[in-house]
Order: sequence, then structure tokens, then C-alpha cells
Amino acid sequence: MKKWLLKAVVQKTISYLPFNHKINYIFQKYITKGVYLSDEYFYDRLEHAQVHIKSFQKYTENKIPNVCLEIGTGWYPIVPISFFLIGAGKTYSVDISFLTSKERLQTTLLKFIEAQKTGRLAHYISVIPERFETINHIIENYNVLSLQEILQKLHIVYLVEDARTLSLPDNSIDLVNSNNTFEHIYPDILIPILKEFARVVKKEGGVMSHFIDMSDHFAHFDKSINIYHFLQFSNTAWKWIDNSIQPQSRIRIYDYKKIYQDLKIPIIEESYRAGNIEELKSIRLSHIFTPYPLEEIAKSHCHFVSSWKN
Ligand SMILES: C[S@@+](CC[C@H](N)C(=O)[O-])C[C@H]1O[C@@H](n2cnc3c(N)ncnc32)[C@H](O)[C@@H]1O
Repeated sequence: MKKWLLKAVVQKTISYLPFNHKINYIFQKYITKGVYLSDEYFYDRLEHAQVHIKSFQKYTENKIPNVCLEIGTGWYPIVPISFFLIGAGKTYSVDISFLTSKERLQTTLLKFIEAQKTGRLAHYISVIPERFETINHIIENYNVLSLQEILQKLHIVYLVEDARTLSLPDNSIDLVNSNNTFEHIYPDILIPILKEFARVVKKEGGVMSHFIDMSDHFAHFDKSINIYHFLQFSNTAWKWIDNSIQPQSRIRIYDYKKIYQDLKIPIIEESYRAGNIEELKSIRLSHIFTPYPLEEIAKSHCHFVSSWKN
């Protein structure tokens, strides 16, 4: 059996079990080795943080966002820690599951210390020295601090809730962001989430910045398939393959743009990776994708910025 299919079968099975996220973490840690905080992943998210901050600075009069909101925290809160280091007041990080842990937070903080020591961190963000001192202090006292105390010192409020119904007031967030999360949320859930973002974002000077990875995530693990492999399946077939732990909606850049347009959320800046048409052509596309131009289907990653100004 192909590696990607084996992973799909195992994740599908795990998705029906209680504590499925914990079991999936163990599966990914020991079998697929997909949870290790690599330099590649760390610096990729640091680059996201840099782009979010630059987007905010470009479209507002303020240099530093006071209140930030991230959806889909995942295992390593690299972007919220970056916001803390540049001087943000508070970051709400929202996820339906509590996926980080004291151990994973420590791993993340140690990466920041290493990046500071090697001088690489400064290439991405302008760190406030006192804020970095807080990180050193946390690491020195790691055993006596609780996870909640550590998050508090980092000005991170971890909200375990559904982003469709946020417990945050209207007009209260300076910078809404997400990182490789939208692709895991089907449109019937993504649409209410975007409506919620439009409710909580500040209508004067608020910015939204979202990174979306539209590649087949099974291809990240199984190099025998390419990043368009999942586009061959009909919706019915994909329903059997996809799982609720790490769902992949497969929607393309034109679908996201249509969702934004229908919700009247402006995209003031858009960038994307063009992908590889030859690789796309090697896949027998499902009829659900064939009406669209290949160049559009091939776009593999995108970034959208929106801003509100009265
Ligand atoms: C792939 S992970 C996030 C990855 C992470 N941001 C990163 O940079 O690697 C997607 C996350 O979105 C969360 N999520 C999915 N639907 C959600 C919802 N309706 N509300 C809040 N979080 C949700 C999932 O629990 C999952 O942790």
C-alpha cells in the first residue's frame, strides 16, 4: 500500500476514537515523524509572522498591533510568540482543540533563543529586548511555572472554542491572522468563521492576513505523489479518504476569492505560488476541477490581506 494511503487509513481510523488528537500526535511523533519542530517549519512560520506584521504596518497608521487574533494555533505557537516579541498587547489564539503543551511551548521558546543567538531572528522581526528577557526568564524557571502562567507572561490567551462563535466583542481586534489553517476548514464552516472575523476586526485600522497551503498534504509525507494528487478524486471518493483530524477541503484560490467576494470582505493584497502546470497535467483531474483554467488550479499557496478603514 502507498505510504499516503496508509496514513489516510490510519488517520481515518483514529478520527473515530476518543482523544483522537492525542492519539494522532503520538502517531505523527513516532510513525510519520510529522510533529518535530524543524528549522524549516520554524522559519517558515517566522516568515509568516513577518509578513503579517508588515501587512499590518502597511495598511494602518499603527506600527504595532495591540490586540491580535490567530485561528488554528496548532502544536507550536510561533506566530503569537513573535507578536509578543515585537510588543503586541495581547494575542488570542483560537483552536477547537488544545493542541499545544508545556513541552511543545518549551521547544518553541528554545527555538526562539537559538534564533536570537545565531542572529537569524533579527532578519524576521524587530524584537523588544525586555520582551526577550521575559523568554529567558521563563526558560530559567520553566519547571516552577504552569502552562497558564507561561502563556500569561507571553500575553497569549488560548481560547478553546469554535471560531464560528467567538467570545470576543465586536470591533476589538487589530490584526486577525491564520497560518496554513483555512485549507483544513470546509466552506460551510469557513464562511461563518470569516463572518465572525469581519465582526470582531476593528472597522478603523483593522487588518486580516491569511496564509493558505492548497497543496495535497499527503504529498508532504509521501514523496511518490505530487501536490495535486488529491485533485483526481470526486467529492464522494474524497469523503472516504479525508478525515476529521486533518481534513483537506481541496478548494482552490478562485473558491477562496469567491467566498471573500460574496462576504464583501475586500482582498487588498494577494500573492500566490504559481505551482507547476506539468505536475498538474500528470494528474487525471476530477470533473469538479476541469471547468477552471489549469493556471488557477495549479496555484499551490496563497496569502490574502484585507483591511478596514472608514
Ligand atoms: C493545520 S492546523 C493549524 C496549523 C498551524 N496554524 C500551523 O501554523 O502549523 C489547523 C487547526 O485549525 C483548527 N480548527 C479547525 N476548525 C476550527 C474552528 N472551527 N475553530 C477553531 N479552530 C479550528 C484545528 O483544530 C487545527 O488545530
